[in-house]
Amino acid sequence: MTDQELVRLALDMRKHSYVPYSRFPVGAALLCADGRVFTGCNVENAAYGSTLCAERAALVKAVSEGCRTGWTALAIAGSGEDFCWPCGACRQMLYEFAPHLRVLAARPDGTFRAAALSELLPHAFGPESLG
Ligand code: THU
Repeated sequence: MTDQELVRLALDMRKHSYVPYSRFPVGAALLCADGRVFTGCNVENAAYGSTLCAERAALVKAVSEGCRTGWTALAIAGSGEDFCWPCGACRQMLYEFAPHLRVLAARPDGTFRAAALSELLPHAFGPESLG
């Protein structure tokens, strides 16, 4: 699976977003070393704080299917003009399982930028921080 293909899956997932409040669909696609891809979209709620981001939807799908390791790349696609980088809560959740994950932040036109999660969340608090 190429980066472009992973970005395309993230872009396509936006069609499943449930976004009556923000009207800002986000899609995500998480690639694992064994070739499996877990996708997700944002799911909002009338109690706004209960909203689930697309990246965390993909993450929870992976973990709940028994896939906790070997995550290689995560593509995210939003609906604004700019590259869609993961929010702080998603960075933290991703760090738990894949501190060296490659993150691909896409624009609606399919162009994207790549960064390491360790760049996006420096000096992170993770499992090893608990001693
Ligand atoms: N959103 C995501 O799905 N991922 C992010 O990393 C940033 C924000 C969603 C949450 C909400 O449904 C909408 O985008 C606007 O914040």
